[in-house]
Amino acid sequence: MKKLLIIAILATVVFGAKPVKIDDKFKDSTKCKACHLHIVNEWEQSWHAKSHYENNEYFRATTEYVSKKTRKSLSGVQVECAACHNPRISVTSTGMEHEILSVMGFGKNSEAKKALESDVISEGINCVVCHNIGVIHSDKDDKVRGINRVEWTKSGVMVGPFDDAMSPYHKVEHRDYMDKDPNKLCFVCHANDRSVSDFVFVNMEKEYVEGGKLCVDCHMGSKKHGIAATLRMDNKKPKAREVRGHAFPGAHTDTMWEGALDLELQLKQKEIFISILNSNPHNIPSGFGSREIVAELVFKKKDKVLETKTLSLTTYYKDKRGKATIPHLAVSSSDDLSVPANRKKVLKTPTQKGADRVEVTLYYRLVNSEVHSLLKLGEPIWSQKFFIASKSISLN
Ligand code: HEC
Ligand code: HEC
Ligand code: HEC
Ligand code: HEC
Ligand code: HEC
Repeated sequence: MKKLLIIAILATVVFGAKPVKIDDKFKDSTKCKACHLHIVNEWEQSWHAKSHYENNEYFRATTEYVSKKTRKSLSGVQVECAACHNPRISVTSTGMEHEILSVMGFGKNSEAKKALESDVISEGINCVVCHNIGVIHSDKDDKVRGINRVEWTKSGVMVGPFDDAMSPYHKVEHRDYMDKDPNKLCFVCHANDRSVSDFVFVNMEKEYVEGGKLCVDCHMGSKKHGIAATLRMDNKKPKAREVRGHAFPGAHTDTMWEGALDLELQLKQKEIFISILNSNPHNIPSGFGSREIVAELVFKKKDKVLETKTLSLTTYYKDKRGKATIPHLAVSSSDDLSVPANRKKVLKTPTQKGADRVEVTLYYRLVNSEVHSLLKLGEPIWSQKFFIASKSISLN
């Protein structure tokens, strides 16, 4: 009896979200173009727009790897991940029955499969994800995230930052987490990312240093004079508004990396001290596991290269058997080497005999070599090096 009760409670805690059907009028971003074209164009460049498994090789490869290693159906894994990656999905959990049907080959016609193939979720994190969140349950357990932390508004009710907006196309409602407290919206998904064994590999909410800038200040830009809608309302002109951008630049955007960290070099008793300063309110790397900062050292003598050396700041993960794995299958990890929020990290390395100068360049990679080869990723972006900063000092 007690066991049953616990299971029943767990089920309501974890699977509390009720899907709400979205009317065709609001289903995808093309429906917003007539009046918000500038926003749709920006959002299309963002990685929120690539969060469906068909549009992100790394995400897709990870779901397949998790399915293979846990022997859970791919559709079962995809439904789990959809909680944050494709949250307008109409099936929010799958059970044993789904697994048995999948093994027997009947999974193709399942509700879960239909929900995963529906065009409602094909845009990933689109307008009717953020702007249809009616309630955020920050009171829920820390591990309850994504779809399970929110309640959707009725179809056609857009929540936004303004309390005096009016639209002929949809209803509008104001919410605090669209203006005063937008971090709360970001933390619906950008927090407490955990493996199938409940190992937390990143928690941006925990590491975030309160009091400084908000997530939107850097990832949607500062407020600028502009318009929210192109529709002519006030005196036949679009209404002037203070607005932000919707491109959500982040770790996949090279322009965001340049200068993201500061670099300082010092020579002390034949050792080079490389200080990496992070003035942002969260760790870097953060957001996801297996990201990497690489420091490349080039030792020179009279402008000729004598030697090169590479230092890496990344985290490696181990599975139940102690083997190298991806974050989502981890039970443990190596030390977290990311540069902490508002602090610095100092690396130290010996100088090279005969060298009179060293140049240090910091780069960022989205996936370290270990995970890159476990998943056999093919697209160039996953091995690309994003330039962060470069400095050199004399060794004489
Ligand atoms: C990841 C969440 C997220 C997604 C996805 C998103 N928005 Fe927003 N949107 C916000 C936030 C946060 C604000 C408030 C920004 C501010 O402080 O002004 C906002 C503001 C707006 C505004 C008010 C004007 C402005 O720019 O401040 C409009 C209109 C809007 N969004 C439309 C859209 C449309 C259309 C889409 C889809 C193409 C979209 N949004 C996708 C989070 C999102
Ligand atoms: C026929 C024109 C039209 C279409 C189509 C349209 N909107 Fe709007 N929307 C408006 C107008 C007008 C406003 C108010 C602008 C203002 O007050 O500055 C608005 C405001 C908003 C706001 C801000 C609300 C607030 O309270 O801050 C959001 C969010 C929004 N729209 C989302 C969407 C989304 C998502 C779609 C597509 C599913 C969409 N809109 C389609 C005309 C439209
Ligand atoms: C519904 C869940 C959800 C919400 C809410 C959400 N995000 Fe995201 N966000 C994601 C996911 C999932 C990705 C990864 C998409 C991918 O890479 O395929 C992402 C990616 C990003 C990226 C790109 C990171 C990179 O590595 O390039 C940025 C920046 C970002 N989000 C900022 C925000 C901000 C700021 C907010 C709050 C205004 C927010 N997000 C709200 C789920 C969410
Ligand atoms: C002071 C500016 C600033 C603020 C505030 C900020 N970020 Fe960032 N964020 C950055 C920089 C700089 C990077 C690294 C460069 C890049 O992403 O291109 C970054 C990276 C990220 C990434 C990608 C990390 C990775 O390695 O995959 C995510 C996701 C993200 N931020 C989300 C957030 C969220 C959520 C918040 C609010 C809790 C937030 N950021 C607040 C500046 C900021
Ligand atoms: C708690 C919400 C949440 C859940 C559940 C979740 N993710 Fe994510 N995931 C995120 C966010 C937020 C990001 C973006 C972080 C960033 O870019 O730094 C992300 C990023 C990723 C990335 C990196 C994508 C890229 O473009 O670099 C992969 C891969 C990934 N998730 C795989 C998965 C898989 C597989 C599952 C299911 C087993 C899953 N995630 C479940 C929130 C979640």
